[in-house]
Amino acid sequence: MVIFGASGDLAHRKLVPAIYSLAHEGSLPPYFALVAVAVSDFTTESFREDMKKAVQEHSRHKPVNEAVWNNLAAGMHYIKGDFAQPETFQELKTVLDRMDVERGTKGNRLFYLSTNPSLFESVSCQLKGNGLTEGPGWHRLVIEKPFGRDLASAQKLNVHLQSIFGEEEIYRIDHYLGKETVQNILVLRFANGIFEPIWRNQFIDHVQITVAETLGVGSRAGYYEEAGAVRDMMQNHMMQLLALIAMETPISLKAEQIRNEKVKVLQALRPILARDVKLSTVRGQYGRGYMDGAPAKGYREETNISPKSTTETFACVKLFIDSWRWSGVPFYLRHGKRLAKKGTEISVFFKKSPDILFNAADSETPVDQNVLTIRVQPDEGVSLRMEAKVPEQQLQIQSVKMDFRFGGSSPEAYERLLLDTMIGDATLFIRHDEAEQSWAFFDPILAEWRDEGARQVPQYAAGTWGPKEAEHLLLADGRKWRRL
Ligand code: BG6
Repeated sequence: MVIFGASGDLAHRKLVPAIYSLAHEGSLPPYFALVAVAVSDFTTESFREDMKKAVQEHSRHKPVNEAVWNNLAAGMHYIKGDFAQPETFQELKTVLDRMDVERGTKGNRLFYLSTNPSLFESVSCQLKGNGLTEGPGWHRLVIEKPFGRDLASAQKLNVHLQSIFGEEEIYRIDHYLGKETVQNILVLRFANGIFEPIWRNQFIDHVQITVAETLGVGSRAGYYEEAGAVRDMMQNHMMQLLALIAMETPISLKAEQIRNEKVKVLQALRPILARDVKLSTVRGQYGRGYMDGAPAKGYREETNISPKSTTETFACVKLFIDSWRWSGVPFYLRHGKRLAKKGTEISVFFKKSPDILFNAADSETPVDQNVLTIRVQPDEGVSLRMEAKVPEQQLQIQSVKMDFRFGGSSPEAYERLLLDTMIGDATLFIRHDEAEQSWAFFDPILAEWRDEGARQVPQYAAGTWGPKEAEHLLLADGRKWRRL
C-alpha cells in the first residue's frame, strides 16, 4: 500500500491506526508493506516512530502490542519527495520492486491518494508515466472526497482517472459506507420479512435524515471555506444514506448490483429548479453562541475564515424521489456544524392510523405516528416507536420504544474499507455515476445560493439546531424535526 500525503492528518488519525487494527486482528496479509510518500522531513525510522505515536493515540486497541507493531513497522518505508517530480515516482518504483522481493507483495499495488484533491490528476499521471500502473499483480487507486466540486469537474476527473485505471480499479472512499450501522441498513431492510412490504409511499409518511455535529470548522478553514456543508457532507455521505434507505431490492449482494440500485435512486431525484430553491432548501452559518455552557465563536470569527464569508455550515433540503415506490413521500435532509448535539440518524415516519377510534377528532387519547429510527452514531442501534396503554385503570396511551443496540466497540469505518480495497470488494465505494448524479442534483441549488450572495445566509447561534427557517420548512408541511 502506498499512501501519498502520509504525513497528514488522515494518515495519523485514521489510516495507519486502521491498518494497525487489521494487523492486530490478524486480518492483514502477512506480506503487507506500507510505503509512505510525502514532502515532510521524515526518515523511515522517524516516520515509524511518529506513526507508533499516532497508533497509540488513535487506535481502538490499546496499549499497542509491541510484537504486532514491530512486524508492521518492519514493512514501512518513507520516501520524502515532491509529487510533481518524476524522480519521486522512480524511487517509489525501486522501493516497491524491492518490497516484492523482501516482503513478497507479488506486484500488488494499492495507491491511496490522501492528498489535496487538486493533485489527483497529476499524481495519477505520474504513476502511469513512471510505469507504476502496469506489471504483474493488481493495481488499484483509492481517492478521498471531494470528487470534484460540481458535475462538470466530477465528470472531468472521472474521465481522467478512467484513462489510467479501469473503473473497477478506482475506489472512491465515502467513510460513511464503512460505518457498521450504515451497512446494517441493508440487513435491516432485506434480511427481515416485515419491513420490505411496508417500505413505500402507501405506508410511509416521510423520512428525515439528520447529520448533526457539535464540531466547528476547526483547523480546516482553507478546505471548508471552499466546500461548505453541501459539498462536505450532503452531496456524498448523506446522499449515500438516502440511496441505501430508498433503493429497490438488489437482485444480488454483488457490488455492481447494489450500486446499480443506489444510482437509480439518485437518477430519480426530482430536480429542484432555481425558482423552488427558496421553498425546498435552507442554508445557514453559525454565529456566536454557547457549546456545553462555554461561549463559542461565530464561523466568521474562526481562524483564517473571511469575516464576510458566505460559506454555509448548515444545509437542509426537502426532496422527492420520483419512483413508483416513493412518489409523494418527502425526504428531509439536514446537516450542520456547531449544532446542539452530535448525532446521525435516519427516521422513517409511518402514516398515522386513521382518524377513528384513538385518533378520532374528539379522542381524549390522541396517538402519535410510528417511527423507525436508525441511529448511525453515536449509540448505534435501531428503535421503533409505538403506542401502548399505560397499565392503569383509566385509558391512557403513551409512546414507547422498542430499542435495539449492539454493545462493545465497532470496528472503525476505515478498517473495513481498507480491507475491502485489498480484497477487491467495491460494494462500499462510490461508483463514478453515483458521484455525478448527486452533483447533478446539487448543482442548481449551489448555483442559486451563490447568486443569492451573502445577504441571504441565515445565521444561527452555535449550540442550537440551526436557523429557524429549517424548522419552518417542516412546519409548513405540518411536520416537525425529530429531537435527537
Ligand atoms: C468528513 C467531513 O467527511 O466527515 C467532516 O469532511 C466531518 O467535516 C466528518 O466532520 C464527519 O465524520 P464522522 O465520522 O465523525 O461523522
